[in-house]
Amino acid sequence: MKQALFGKEIIHLSNIDSTNNFAAKLLSENLCQNGAVIMADVQTEGKGQRGNIWLSESGKNLLSSFVFKPDNLSVENQIAITWATSLSLLETLRKFNIEALIKWPNDIFVGGKKIAGILIENQLQGTRISCSIIGIGLNLNQTFFDDLKATSVLLETKQIVEPRKFLNLLAHEMNEQFQLIYSSNFEILKVEYENNLFQMNELKSYEDEFGVFVGKIIGTTEEGKILIEKSNAIQSYGLKEVTFLMK
Ligand code: BTN
Repeated sequence: MKQALFGKEIIHLSNIDSTNNFAAKLLSENLCQNGAVIMADVQTEGKGQRGNIWLSESGKNLLSSFVFKPDNLSVENQIAITWATSLSLLETLRKFNIEALIKWPNDIFVGGKKIAGILIENQLQGTRISCSIIGIGLNLNQTFFDDLKATSVLLETKQIVEPRKFLNLLAHEMNEQFQLIYSSNFEILKVEYENNLFQMNELKSYEDEFGVFVGKIIGTTEEGKILIEKSNAIQSYGLKEVTFLMK
């Protein structure tokens, strides 16, 4: 059993461009140890997935990056970082009586609204992951969003939660889930991830290169693609190859 990794070193910044960028800079200067967590009150250039901007009201939410330097994780198993991180967020939210699900690949949803997003930036050395910067943005105490399909812990529970408090609980869960990566128990993570997928086994509308269709998510692949049953055939999709058509 490994010792607790995440949360021993927390670097709390008031203002930064992006906690992921800051972590990358520290790593490039060899100033960042395995398990370090960077958090910030404000990001001026918060990064989202697919080149999007991550917006957050000052001081209200969790803006954090976890630095993970695996001993021996091959590129083909890198998806396990997504599984373990998503599950850690779900478990932490559960402590606040929030039942969340994972909208493939790694958005965290509550009742059809996004509460958290994950941006994982991996550095490779040959066929191994030398370092992973796991960026997590979670809406805590913000109550107004331009995007109506967003929610927060405060909106869901009427409870104000200090970012630092949530971070400590999240770090604890990350330590639990990442044990499964250290012990190469990838299958357990995959099954748990699939058990918590948004719209799993439900007939819903999606759009792929051929147009709109009604299909059913039935699981994911080892590489993290989503499997959707479409017209009695099973189709796998990577990022940007399928869109969820939500009401
Ligand atoms: C998404 O688009 O859903 C991913 C959002 C990830 C945002 C977090 S906030 C902390 C970390 N630093 C960044 O610049 N992005 C991530």
